[in-house]
Amino acid sequence: MLKKKKLLSLITPLAAASIILAACGTSEETGTNGSTGEEGEGATKLVVGTDAAYAPFESFDDSGKIVGIDVDVVNAIGEEVGVDFEINNVAWEPLFQQVTNGEVDLGVSAITITEERKETYDFTEPYYEATQLIVTKEDSDIASLADLKDKKIGVQINTTGHYAAQDLQGKTSTSILPYETTPIAIQEVINGTVDAAIGDNAVILEYIKNNPDSKLKSIEDDSFEKEYYGLMVKKGNEEVLDLLNEGIEKLKETGKLAEITGQEIE
Ligand code: ARG
Repeated sequence: MLKKKKLLSLITPLAAASIILAACGTSEETGTNGSTGEEGEGATKLVVGTDAAYAPFESFDDSGKIVGIDVDVVNAIGEEVGVDFEINNVAWEPLFQQVTNGEVDLGVSAITITEERKETYDFTEPYYEATQLIVTKEDSDIASLADLKDKKIGVQINTTGHYAAQDLQGKTSTSILPYETTPIAIQEVINGTVDAAIGDNAVILEYIKNNPDSKLKSIEDDSFEKEYYGLMVKKGNEEVLDLLNEGIEKLKETGKLAEITGQEIE
């Protein structure tokens, strides 16, 4: 990766110039302002969109770099298949739009593969297994999902946590408060705006671990189904999808994926 850095810095990172296919001699015109022509030495570059408020999958470190499990996964894929990734923080909802309109080549954001999303997007093979968790104040008497039936629930908008809350209370429930990010939804539990939040398990656990003074607890519930994260591309973008799947396949074979994620997945 490091060696390629120099080369990459010569490329104007216009997101629209999605794939620079090295093997293909006609790739130069995908660059901007005629600044290409130098990258044809083997680097395919793909632009990733993410919502980097989602530790441990994607968040900013102290130096302003986006780091996390998802970043490690795509970089490992890149090493396997000879691709470079540029990761952009575009926020959760815009991410879907940007994959659709081609501003980014793929979404990598702990995105759960759902039947509904599969109507509009294609997903790679799963790379991580997750489920939902409830987070509430330590001294709350909430103990299960059923206990949230008449409670105020904070969620990140249009996430599987949001959908779980809607399944419980109905789509139009005014007791469901959708926020732009998961950390905000959790913060509103602390503030008392909502009684609980529902979110991805690893993210809730990471938040509690990183904020020991927040006086929060997490609650599991069997009615939350298993979810699988996939990398997301625009429907029909087989070229990128195949490349990503090839990388994931190799990472599964070598055990590198399990090393990165800390879990086994088929
Ligand atoms: N896994 C959940 C979903 O796909 C939440 C993902 C949110 N990711 C993020 N980076 N904010 O709906």
